[in-house]
Amino acid sequence: MTVSLRIDILSVVPDMLHSPLNHSIIHNAREKGLVDIQVHNLRDYSTDKHRKVDDYPFGGGAGMVLTPQPVFDCYEALISQRDYDEFIFMTPDAPQYTQRDANMLSTKSNIMILCGHYKGVDQRIRDELVTAEYSIGDYVLSGGEIAALVVADSVARLIPGVLGDAESALSDSFMDDLLDAPLYTRPAEFRGLSIPEILRSGDHKKVREWKLKMSEDKTKTIRPDLYKLYLNNQ
Ligand code: ADE
Repeated sequence: MTVSLRIDILSVVPDMLHSPLNHSIIHNAREKGLVDIQVHNLRDYSTDKHRKVDDYPFGGGAGMVLTPQPVFDCYEALISQRDYDEFIFMTPDAPQYTQRDANMLSTKSNIMILCGHYKGVDQRIRDELVTAEYSIGDYVLSGGEIAALVVADSVARLIPGVLGDAESALSDSFMDDLLDAPLYTRPAEFRGLSIPEILRSGDHKKVREWKLKMSEDKTKTIRPDLYKLYLNNQ
């Protein structure tokens, strides 16, 4: 099989990324050669004799700022080897990442993801290099590594061949702006709790209708914002 997506992740704490990238679905995708994920330590690109990658903010303020030099040098080393479709920066002050973004990124060939650290990164990196910025939610993490892993995982599982059951990504929550219907497995009766009778009826049409109704009701109740999108797209 040929690699259909390469992801390069630029970080100052690369060790945070290694374990999640070496387990479960992402690990299998890498093993199968469907996704190539390379992690780069920005300190390796620092020209500072102490491998420093941060400095104080001009104009004052709390926290340190990631300096442009290691990021520009790492970026240039990578683009000299191949063309990149996107250079993504993970940061809380950005539009929220959604399934739509994952779907779009899964069609690309080469993407770079920069993990923010410290108080933030020098704005010239964002102005000159970055092509897309994403937040994974309205909260602040201690760095962009966990957010970059969210992107890598959500994109990798969409690559054809990564998930065993070809249907399973297409039927995920969010794919059609609806949350998943409740799921049940054996036993049908557990501690006096039984599963909805319709699921044992064998009537596939009725089961499909029931699942859709449950998805619609659930989405309407807990994610009215998504439900509005769903109605608009009908
Ligand atoms: N870095 C810190 N917090 C983040 C967030 N919420 N999303 C993306 N990157 C981040």
